[in-house]
Amino acid sequence: MAPADEILDEIPRRRVLYGRRKGRRLRAGQSRLVAEYLPKFEILDLPESGFISPRDLFPPETDETWLEIGFGAGEHMLAQAEANERVGFIGCEPFFNGVVQLISGMHDRGVENIRIYRDDARLLLARLSDASVARAFVLFPDPWPKTRHHKRRIVSKPVLDQLHRILKPDAELRIATDDPGYLDWILQHVIGHGGFDWLARRPADWREKPDDWPDSRYESKARLAGRSCAYLRYISRTN
Ligand SMILES: C[S@@+](CC[C@H](N)C(=O)[O-])C[C@H]1O[C@@H](n2cnc3c(N)ncnc32)[C@H](O)[C@@H]1O
Repeated sequence: MAPADEILDEIPRRRVLYGRRKGRRLRAGQSRLVAEYLPKFEILDLPESGFISPRDLFPPETDETWLEIGFGAGEHMLAQAEANERVGFIGCEPFFNGVVQLISGMHDRGVENIRIYRDDARLLLARLSDASVARAFVLFPDPWPKTRHHKRRIVSKPVLDQLHRILKPDAELRIATDDPGYLDWILQHVIGHGGFDWLARRPADWREKPDDWPDSRYESKARLAGRSCAYLRYISRTN
């Protein structure tokens, strides 16, 4: 198992952030909301060394922590947070307009059990304490279809090492994709990693979505476009 800090060596100094960081200009109401509401929920500073315990980010009555990497506009995480009030959610997303949409949804629906990290998830992963997360989601990650860009794929050995370190034994890792090439890659990398067991026993187990898996924006788009999606569920095992 790679030490926690090793993943940081993988991140180039000029960070390659996978996708857009900024989109459309914010409307005045959105800017106000961000200024007033985001600071309450944002994870701003990570320690230079050592770990943070996710428990310290939430009120004491919180039962466990779930993590979503690349939440986009946050539809899935917001619905999960509403449905699981005693779970504390940490969402990572560098795309600012997505963060704004999440904040706006949290405000409108009165959801407060989410903490937001607006940067590369790998920086946060390296600073979360061992066995501190009860479930993790990587939903419709950018597929980077060109071979020369495969190294940018978030499903990778260093990220899986970190997920395995921070996930509790028997915690669930959920990954979804609508890209057949990335699906093969994910299947190979997660099983090849050795720290995760795939829960599927028959094709329906990954072709059909479990009831407790709300839609995300990319998923809705993929289905509208007629692409089928794979819903992969793994259990993190103790080595
Ligand atoms: C294809 S989108 C999917 C968004 C969302 N999960 C959904 O299903 O609608 C991939 C998202 O991952 C985010 N992302 C890419 N690399 C990331 C990283 N290293 N850390 C955190 N988020 C990342 C991108 O900004 C983008 O919003």
